[in-house]
Amino acid sequence: MKTAKTIEEIRQIVTEYKHDLKTIGLVTTMGNLHKGHLALVREAQKNAEKVIVTIFVNPMQFDRPEDLKTYPRTLEQDLALLEEAGVDAVFTPTPEIMYPRGLQNQTYVEVPDLANSLEGALRPGHFNGVATVVSKFFNIIQPDLACFGEKDYQQLALIREMVQDMNFQLRIIGVPIVRHENGLAYSSRNNRLSPEELEKAPEFHACLVKLGEKLRALPDFRNIQKTVDESVNELDGSGFSTDDITVVDADTLSPDITESRRVVILAAAYLGKVRLIDNLVITR
Ligand code: PAF
Repeated sequence: MKTAKTIEEIRQIVTEYKHDLKTIGLVTTMGNLHKGHLALVREAQKNAEKVIVTIFVNPMQFDRPEDLKTYPRTLEQDLALLEEAGVDAVFTPTPEIMYPRGLQNQTYVEVPDLANSLEGALRPGHFNGVATVVSKFFNIIQPDLACFGEKDYQQLALIREMVQDMNFQLRIIGVPIVRHENGLAYSSRNNRLSPEELEKAPEFHACLVKLGEKLRALPDFRNIQKTVDESVNELDGSGFSTDDITVVDADTLSPDITESRRVVILAAAYLGKVRLIDNLVITR
């Protein structure tokens, strides 16, 4: 497995792959890798001849400085996992390499509506940071395809929209959420839960499943707020602090779901200090 720290080094690797007419699949990560990331790698390997993974804790997408400071950095362990998974090359730049003029002076990419709605309204600036760093990786690596997890549902929708709007020439592949047997979605944030919180955490997904069943039983999606509020109360009553549960159209992410056949429950809740997110798509 090749490793590159600078833009020149990764571009050299990309040039070799392109010279050999190899297709390139990209998986962008912030490290602290788990089974969810490895599923992205496997999907990229199925669809491309060479797979490049980026590991970069992107300061531009953190709305809380404390989160950036405490974000787990486990580079040695991550590289070992990627080597074992058969990844071809890993790009591990520093913030100085990605943002040489500093964050304040960095040109940024903003996807209208999606960047500032839903999760974006709760985390100002977060999605501009994501869109900017992902578009920089697309420009640096010029992949044929890139894989993103459905766990970050709005992020995936935003990236698809950005690719279309900016005419990036690549295919975006969405990869289903990988869950523990108890339903908890794999996430780097789970590592920050205490043993007691880790035992409680699967109730978050269970609550979404229950809400999904209740919504499916309704004659239509016209008056769902009372049902959603019940789930918020249940979650809060069992030790979580719900940040948001919203049901939107699964394709457009519009809150107008009266005619929708496919909706998605987007949920965020704190368990102690850790903010968990999850989602569930429901089809009629
Ligand atoms: O989903 C993530 O881990 C990050 O938002 C991403 C896409 C790697 C951009 O930093």
